[in-house]
Amino acid sequence: MLANKIAFFDSGVGGLTTLHVALQQLPNEDFIYFGDCLNAPYGVKTTEEIRNLVFDAVEFLQKHNCKAIVLACNTATSAAVNQLREKYPNLPIVGMEPAVKLAGKIHDSGRILITATDSTLRGQKLNELIHDLNMDDLVDVLSLQELVLFAEKFEFDSPALFDYLKLKLEPFNWDEYNSIVLGCTHFNYFKNQLRKFIPETVHILDGNQGTVNRLKSLIKEGEGSRQIEFYLSKKADPDYFLPFLKYLDNQ
Ligand code: DGL
Repeated sequence: MLANKIAFFDSGVGGLTTLHVALQQLPNEDFIYFGDCLNAPYGVKTTEEIRNLVFDAVEFLQKHNCKAIVLACNTATSAAVNQLREKYPNLPIVGMEPAVKLAGKIHDSGRILITATDSTLRGQKLNELIHDLNMDDLVDVLSLQELVLFAEKFEFDSPALFDYLKLKLEPFNWDEYNSIVLGCTHFNYFKNQLRKFIPETVHILDGNQGTVNRLKSLIKEGEGSRQIEFYLSKKADPDYFLPFLKYLDNQ
């Protein structure tokens, strides 16, 4: 059997935002998407719990004939990517990290707000990255953990969502900011909604394009046709993820 598919993994529906970018740019590949929706959100769990879930997921995906695995989840990457690479030295594993480097590159003045899950924000990986880039004095951090559940529930337009965003974003003086980094793939669904609270002068950045670029650099081009096999850990309709991809098409 040829190892020919590219696997995308996330705690739930967030990684579909990364897959969505890959689908546009890799027309000759076939994909597998696994969302661990039964166990979402990961961001409120301990590192050890997240690591165990990610190991189980990658073991599952490994049985499906993959030439690369994308951890389309900042939280999973933070908790488990180093250990996974040790366990699977021959498998290209693309991790995701909040786009702090990109924010640093386009930065000319003002501060940078990094948003992510609780777990990613307290993780060593992100804190080392900020430190290594010499950006400690430039960044602020904000957990938007609840957005994960809003996305999982396909709740993109409710009063409760806007109340939450208002509560979290209104306290900031946005004149002081250059960019906001969406350091969780679930947050990418909410770019338009975030814009209602954040002026156009502030860049809204995410790591999807960087991740797809990295993936492209690691694989040999395939002979597929954008077929996608979907798997999820909870019992649901086989077409469960399609409305999410459709939602992204319309953004
Ligand atoms: N989508 C995830 C991320 O990029 C994790 C969200 C969660 O399950 O808490 O961090």
